Amino acid sequence: MKSSENPLTSLDDWEDDLLRRYPEDHEPGNGKQTDEFRSYDDAPPHVREFYRLNHLHQTVEINRRKRNEFLPLRRRRMGIWDAMEFLNTLVDDSDPDTSLSQIEHLLQTSEAIRADGHPRWFILTGLIHDLGKILCLFDQPQWCVTGDTFVVGCEFDSSIVYHDFFTANPDSKNEKYNSKFGIYSPHCGLRNVMLSWGHDEYMYNVCKDYLPDSGLAMIRYHSFYPWHSEGAYAHLMDDYDHQMLEYVKLFNPYDLYSKSDDPPDVERLQPFYEQLIAEFFPPEISW
Ligand SMILES: [Fe+2]
Ligand SMILES: [Fe+2]
Repeated sequence: MKSSENPLTSLDDWEDDLLRRYPEDHEPGNGKQTDEFRSYDDAPPHVREFYRLNHLHQTVEINRRKRNEFLPLRRRRMGIWDAMEFLNTLVDDSDPDTSLSQIEHLLQTSEAIRADGHPRWFILTGLIHDLGKILCLFDQPQWCVTGDTFVVGCEFDSSIVYHDFFTANPDSKNEKYNSKFGIYSPHCGLRNVMLSWGHDEYMYNVCKDYLPDSGLAMIRYHSFYPWHSEGAYAHLMDDYDHQMLEYVKLFNPYDLYSKSDDPPDVERLQPFYEQLIAEFFPPEISW
C-alpha cells in the first residue's frame, strides 16, 4: 500500500504514534501541557508525512465531496461479520509477525470491554468501531481514512498535532473558514459541524440507525483527539455533547491500550459475536 499518497506502511502506524503521544499513564485532558518529555513533533518521518498530507487535503470542499461520494451508502450490502472479514483483506506492508490483523484489533477492543462487565451495546461498539477503515479498500488514500480528526469550516485548533502543516491548507487562508467560529455559531452542537473525513464519520453513518447514541458517539468521535483528549472546541459544544464526551472518554482507553501480543481466538469468539451482532443489526446493511 506504500506510495507517495500512502506513506504509512500500515494504518496501525498512526495508532502506534498515538501511543507515543498518549502513553497509558498520561493524565487525560492535559497530556500535552504537563509532559515535557513528549514532543508532538518527533513522529517517525512516514507518520509525519502522513500528517502533512492529511492537514493539506482536509478542506471543507473535500469534506463535502467525500460525503456526497460515500454517504449515500451505495457501495455494498453486507453484514457486520462480513465487513470484518472484508476489512481483514486489507494487507499492510508491516511485518505480519509483529502486527495484529484488523479483526484481532477489533476483538481485543471488544473483549477488553466485555471483561470489564460493560453492557452489550458497548461491547458491540468496540467490535465495530474501526470497520470504516474499509474505505481503504474502496481505494481511498490514508489521509482520508485515518488520523486524528478535527473540525473543518472554522480555524484549525492549535491543539491539533502538527498544527503547522495547516498553513498549506487552502481553508486557512479563506476568510469564511479561518475565524474562531467560521461557518458555525456558538454552541451549535458538534453533530452540526463537519469533522475531517475518515473512518469515524463514515462508520457513524453506516450504523446510525442501529446503536444507542452513546455507542454512536464513541464511533463518531473516537479519533477526535483534539476534543476528547485536549479539551478543544468547548465553544461549539452543547449540553448533549458534554454527555457524549463522557462516553467517548470511557471508550478511548479500550481502543488505545487493549492491544496485546496475545491474539484473540477468532474462531472461538465468532459465535458469541454473531449473536451479539444479530441483536442490533439486520443480516445485511448498506455500506
Ligand atoms: Fe479508529
Ligand atoms: Fe481502533
